[in-house]
Amino acid sequence: MNKIEKIRAKKGKGKITMLTCYDYSFSRVLEEAGIDIILVGDSLANVVLGLDDTRQVSAEEMFNHTRAVCEAAKKTPVVADMPYATYQKDTDKCLRNAEKFMEMGADAVKVEWFKDCPAVVDILVKAGIPVMGHIGLTPQTVHLLGGYRVQGKDEPSASRIKEQAKILEDKGSFSLVLECIPSQLASAITGELKIPTIGIGAGRFCDGQVLVLYDIIGLYRDKKPRFVRAYMNLSRELEEAVLKFKEDVEKGVFPSPEESYR
Ligand code: KIV
Repeated sequence: MNKIEKIRAKKGKGKITMLTCYDYSFSRVLEEAGIDIILVGDSLANVVLGLDDTRQVSAEEMFNHTRAVCEAAKKTPVVADMPYATYQKDTDKCLRNAEKFMEMGADAVKVEWFKDCPAVVDILVKAGIPVMGHIGLTPQTVHLLGGYRVQGKDEPSASRIKEQAKILEDKGSFSLVLECIPSQLASAITGELKIPTIGIGAGRFCDGQVLVLYDIIGLYRDKKPRFVRAYMNLSRELEEAVLKFKEDVEKGVFPSPEESYR
């Protein structure tokens, strides 16, 4: 079984864990911790590049970070987020970009739902590129969704999301991210699909959970959505380390003779 088949085989057999990652050193830690999937998310735009909108990250930036992550993730499947405008309009460009992610070492790409998403998944899957779909709150088209808010709260919108899930499964996606939808809806979709669902702000009844790495370590402080659980406060610890370094240098106690060459 290859890495992607192993993820598919986890459907209904315990929870899948996925975290975002953007560089070599963090990727090494995630691999050693045995996380199931590493996602090079376009949230890179927010948490690494400091931009407001995930649509502002470029293909080149995503390629570089994907390569860095893949240098450390040898056993863990790496999924690369296809950034905005790299797959929506032009089929040849979409295929070229997805192939470039695979050349960088990714095992699969992720695409967000939009009206021609089924055709995109079809093209990629037929070209042998494994695809993870992303439905519910899709940040790349947030302007069409009334902003960053929970999706699928009323019946018509819940049915639309269920329909999208089924279409993406039928087109050959190997798994689906469900973002910011009510847990009952996520549970219904998870029950209806044969492929694993991975939730973010979608309650506990998905086949797996994903969060942004910088959120769970308390490094990104600009926004904290309700679904985030921070397991440490790395920004505080980092600040303490930086202050200690500054103090040692200013007092003349760093470097010590042992930290110097004769
Ligand atoms: O880019 C990202 O971090 C994502 C996750 C929120 C699923 O797409």
